[in-house]
Amino acid sequence: MTRPPGPLPADVRRRLATAYFGRRSYFYPETDSTNDAALSLAAAGEAEGTVVVADYQRRGRGRRAHAWSSPAGKDLLFSLILRPEGDARHALPVTLVAATAISVTLSKLLDVDVMVTWPNDVVTESGKVAGILAESASSGGRLAHVVVGIGVNVNASEADFAGDLRGRAASCRTLTGVEWDRAELLADLLGTIEAYYDRFKRDGFATLASAYEARLAQAGRMVWFEREGTRASGRVTGVSPDGALVVNLGDGRAIELYSEHVEVIA
Ligand code: BTN
Repeated sequence: MTRPPGPLPADVRRRLATAYFGRRSYFYPETDSTNDAALSLAAAGEAEGTVVVADYQRRGRGRRAHAWSSPAGKDLLFSLILRPEGDARHALPVTLVAATAISVTLSKLLDVDVMVTWPNDVVTESGKVAGILAESASSGGRLAHVVVGIGVNVNASEADFAGDLRGRAASCRTLTGVEWDRAELLADLLGTIEAYYDRFKRDGFATLASAYEARLAQAGRMVWFEREGTRASGRVTGVSPDGALVVNLGDGRAIELYSEHVEVIA
């Protein structure tokens, strides 16, 4: 049964040190997808920085039509409503900004190397620890809003990573051997994401690109990707000022990838 949404639980609010992230909030014990809820709220005019949190999602979504499943009551599942200036292409750098902030926060807290894989995965040597799904709506060629949905594996155990995820996912708990306080972690994440997002809004992504590249697990690696039905490969050199992955094709040409699927070959 679904209980009605309420404000963020008090233990998150007590720890919040943000100006506007999480100051308006919806907490659902259970919902289909926090992104769906946030998209409806954003379309109805909800303020920038509003966060939608759930303890369990019945139909959590990832990129490329993948499901995002997480056991009830163990992890963090939340979506932020953002209203950056610009056209639809600004949704990509917002994902990279969030990935940088999450990777910085988790590295510091867990004392583990936490990297990013372009565009939206937050990973460690032991597997993926967080994922981001940004979905946007535009009006008259301008972005109306971006919903940044974030799933962080916090207290999931190895046994929770079944099927496809076995050996490819990690949680704060599997990485450190201890349980983590989800309220504290959420408050920390909202603080760091807000700080990076404010820099992005003030100075643009170009000034944050080097911070993202410093954590980019694919940097210098050979990758393959598919464009217009054709497979090609090249070496990753970094990201462009608008968040595209830059791949050197080895024949003097470099290509910028915005939405292609990329896999590391070597
Ligand atoms: C991915 O790695 O493909 C992205 C995963 C994003 C999952 C989060 S959980 C909160 C929010 N609600 C969703 O349905 N998806 C995102």
